Amino acid sequence: MSPLLEVRALRYVYPDGHEALRGVSLSLGAGERVALVGANGSGKSTLLLHLAGALPAPENGVFLHGGPAGPERLRKSVGLIFQEPDDQLLMPQVLEDVAFGLVARGVPAKEARTRARAVLESLGAGRLAERPPHRLSGGEKRLAALAGILVMEPEVLVLDEPTAALDPRARRRVIELLRSMERETAVLLATHDLDMALDTCARAVILHEGRVAAEGALPGLFRDAELLERVGLELPLRYAR
Ligand SMILES: Nc1ncnc2c1ncn2[C@@H]1O[C@H](COP(=O)(O)OP(=O)(O)OP(=O)(O)O)[C@@H](O)[C@H]1O
Ligand SMILES: [Mg+2]
Repeated sequence: MSPLLEVRALRYVYPDGHEALRGVSLSLGAGERVALVGANGSGKSTLLLHLAGALPAPENGVFLHGGPAGPERLRKSVGLIFQEPDDQLLMPQVLEDVAFGLVARGVPAKEARTRARAVLESLGAGRLAERPPHRLSGGEKRLAALAGILVMEPEVLVLDEPTAALDPRARRRVIELLRSMERETAVLLATHDLDMALDTCARAVILHEGRVAAEGALPGLFRDAELLERVGLELPLRYAR
């Protein structure tokens, strides 16, 4: 069976000539949870932007259900939480912002708002519903952005550092939410929080300087101190002493 989402030998050079991806291949099965880790600048966000159709992948670079997928198709199936929530929050009120994608898809406004409120509440962020997004704290913005994607129930959920700036309780809520999500939702989680990756993912891919340096089952991969050292990472807290 072909994987749900696949990247084949993807290269990407930014307009200023910086080579961010140097031939990356990876695949994600239906319902699979995979962590994408790597030091700052290793190419994680660049890769995720391609998967969500926000940067144009070359033809035959990204595949969905075994067929080549262009940006438009990817935007429909892949929900991306950006690393910078400001790139995502556009409406004057959080509730409207979270409901925005549903309304754009044709869900009646009242139903969209009800669903948006329920997702905010599941993240412990119901109190933010009436606030203007640009006035929120960094962590609150992140929760609002997360709600706006979760409410769409995408086939593939792509998260770029979802717990950066979150307080410990909000981080724990995100982890619980990922664990409790429908098993059929595939998740690709880019994170520096290897402990969170261990709690939510069965497999990890390590990027290093725009290439896949290693991949494998968790927790095994994250116990390899030598490998982590080589790619500029540190042992997860639970294994470090
Ligand atoms: N718009 C851009 N123009 C030029 N180079 C860029 C641009 N965005 C990112 N890069 C470069 O591409 C490389 C990969 O960046 P990317 O943001 O994908 O890394 P990352 O793994 O997500 O890092 P982090 O952990 O810091 O989020 C970096 O060296 C970065 O400097
Ligand atoms: Mg990044």
